[in-house]
Amino acid sequence: MIYLDNSSSTFQKPFCVKHSIKKTLNKYAANPGRSGHKLSLLAGEKVLEARMTLANHFGLKDFTNVIFTASCTEALNLALQGSVQPHGHIIATIYEHNSVLRTLEYLKKTYHITYTLVTPNANGIITPDRILSAKQPNTYLVVVNHTSNVTGHTQPIHEIGAVCHEHNLLFLVDTAQSGGHERLNMEKDHISMLAVAGHKGFHSIQCGALLIQDCKIKPLKYGGTGTNSISLTQPTDYPEGLESGTDSIVNIIALATGVKFVERKWNDIHQKITNLTQYTLTHLSKIPNCIVYSTNANSGVISFCIKGYTSTEIASYLNQKHIAVRSGLHCAPKIHEYLGTTKNGLVRVSLSYFTHKTDLMYLIHCLKTLSKKTLLFQKN
Ligand SMILES: Cc1ncc(COP(=O)(O)O)c(C=O)c1O
Repeated sequence: MIYLDNSSSTFQKPFCVKHSIKKTLNKYAANPGRSGHKLSLLAGEKVLEARMTLANHFGLKDFTNVIFTASCTEALNLALQGSVQPHGHIIATIYEHNSVLRTLEYLKKTYHITYTLVTPNANGIITPDRILSAKQPNTYLVVVNHTSNVTGHTQPIHEIGAVCHEHNLLFLVDTAQSGGHERLNMEKDHISMLAVAGHKGFHSIQCGALLIQDCKIKPLKYGGTGTNSISLTQPTDYPEGLESGTDSIVNIIALATGVKFVERKWNDIHQKITNLTQYTLTHLSKIPNCIVYSTNANSGVISFCIKGYTSTEIASYLNQKHIAVRSGLHCAPKIHEYLGTTKNGLVRVSLSYFTHKTDLMYLIHCLKTLSKKTLLFQKN
């Protein structure tokens, strides 16, 4: 199978990630931070090293503010629910994933917040002035999806962060798609909370993290911190106050290994993704009836449709040709409303460091053949 669904989860994992999983199971799989014996302490040390790796990668000074989560969705929920200010106002963008949008709806019903979804300019960019013009007297938080999982557009986080800092607004960045592809520095970019997905651009397994700078938020879960057992009150210190339950040590160490892999290969990854994305964009645009919605050659996210077919029909056809892509709305309904692609959805081809040019040559060949046929599937 040719795997071009890396924005969902990367499939091919580097040897170092696979090796770290095996090594953790064989050597460190005790319960970190619960007991005083050597193995528990060793496990705790490894989790601490992982926190340092993530903090260092994202320019966060205090590694105790790295909170491991099950997924990026959980990290975003923790950030949004944990920082809620009842009756306050949140600015987000039409690029947001449902992990943000549905949480905003929940906060609206439960805490009576209101929110504004900012639209991009003609180049797909959310400019700082667009954020500012949505500001209200009770605005307390700005949420931005760094790289869209639908179009691949990447937002100017540094500039938006500067505006948030100037106006004393919390700033939450969703790096699910940009992690491993674009570098951010929480301190320099004035990011208050940064949500990470381990299983996408970091080539690790299903795991996430929320990194927090200069703000205190409430937990999503209670108990199971392994500290101060006599107390019935949740600790407020980080990370334990926000990280209830036994840490998933295998996933956490694998995530840190993925981050180190990406750091070692940074230039190669960047070069390869840019070349392959550019190749795909160029060749897709030459296919008759194919409309391409992506322009960012650095993202590895390419969405398109072919007139006369739904995105699901195209994805099914490619599946028969042993090519894995994703179709539909990609859990981001508002950008589809904006683009007018809600009815048929879009086909998304997403690349990774392990994608080969020949995979994409074959994809283009298959799509050319499809675009020539007027009706592939019998429609009722
Ligand atoms: C932009 C964006 N945000 C959040 C998520 C949720 O990530 P996870 O699957 O780790 O929960 C995704 C997943 O595809 C995403 O693309």
